[in-house]
Amino acid sequence: MQLGILKESAAGETRVALLPESLKTLLAQGLTVIVEGGAGWSAGASDAAYAEAGATVTDRDAILAGADILPVVNAPGPADQALLKPGAVMIGFLKPLEAPLALSAAMARPVTLFSMELVPRISRAQTMDALSSMATVAGYKAVIDAAGVLPRLFPMLMTAAGTLAPARVFVIGAGVAGLQAIATARRLGAVVEAYDVRAAAGEQVRSLGGKFLDVDLGGINTEGGGGYAAELTEEALERGRDLITKTAAHSDVIVTTAQVPGRPAPLLLRRAAVEAMRPGSVLVDLAAPAGGNCELTKPGTTQTIGGVTLMAPLNLPAEVPVHASQLYARNILNFLGLILKKGELHVDLSDEVLAGACVAHEGKPVNPRVAKLLEAAQPVG
Ligand code: NAI
Repeated sequence: MQLGILKESAAGETRVALLPESLKTLLAQGLTVIVEGGAGWSAGASDAAYAEAGATVTDRDAILAGADILPVVNAPGPADQALLKPGAVMIGFLKPLEAPLALSAAMARPVTLFSMELVPRISRAQTMDALSSMATVAGYKAVIDAAGVLPRLFPMLMTAAGTLAPARVFVIGAGVAGLQAIATARRLGAVVEAYDVRAAAGEQVRSLGGKFLDVDLGGINTEGGGGYAAELTEEALERGRDLITKTAAHSDVIVTTAQVPGRPAPLLLRRAAVEAMRPGSVLVDLAAPAGGNCELTKPGTTQTIGGVTLMAPLNLPAEVPVHASQLYARNILNFLGLILKKGELHVDLSDEVLAGACVAHEGKPVNPRVAKLLEAAQPVG
């Protein structure tokens, strides 16, 4: 049984699915590990380190054609997918709902595909929750990047030359990324305010030393399934926007992270909110991959608008590749624990974690939402 580790091919990707330190338990089960030359380089893992850990360094085609198990960060391109070994299992951020067509070549092969995005967020699967791992890294890095361009210091400083006021940071969406942004900003000494539609987030914000801003949303249900937010009515969204525009006027940094699963990111900052910010302030839109929370956001760019820096990064975890890969590798290893028994593959789809994450099993679509999206995308006639 061979497990392959590829060098990620997506533009700007620096993470790797497994690090040399991840290999011990796999090798102990009798697996052979093959790794593409340079796979871990950006994440601080040399070919020599993989070889020392017991892997064989080889070329890409040998891995695609030879791996029975292929953990990846992103899905490889169609030409690579066409080489996948029959019976192979590929696991990663495959974006099955966001970009199902990009998986077509793999779906046409007799292989099994698991999406890390679809791992159910239940207690038993917490150690495999790669979305949370990456959101944690992104929330931290967003604040560090904002601090790097802000023309002010974060902490309050009392010096012989006078006192400097602390930076004011406003975090919108207090989920995994937002809470990490709050914690990071607080550690740097900022005064933090936060807003979320889920009332449960209030307690968590306060426990990190932030001030939670309450908005009367008219008593509507704001919670969807699994701890996520529900999609709001336009009226409720507008109430949030009013508060956000007011708070923007006295914020030095805004980090916005609001998302609703399976939907475009809610529009929470109109042009007026950006114009309300003081010149030199910074807005980081972490919802950029889902379109962004700000109407001026151009995903993947940094703009200066009226003196305000608007950053809309698409892959912040790739800017912290060592720790992002370390966390991701642990999520992958824990997931592999569900499908590997004594070094052999056992895919039991009666397990709710595996069933939830499975996109296709042995060439047949398993996830009905993905199957429907693929069907709808087929050219007519
Ligand atoms: P997410 O990335 O989907 O959304 C980020 C935040 O945006 C959420 O807190 C959401 O409430 C907020 N939001 C959505 N629409 C908004 C709006 N219109 N205005 C303001 N805020 C808005 O969510 P994330 O961060 O992945 O997880 C959210 C929650 O899910 C966690 O706080 C937790 O309760 C639950 N969760 C449970 C896990 C588990 O049980 N294993 C693991 C991870 C999260």
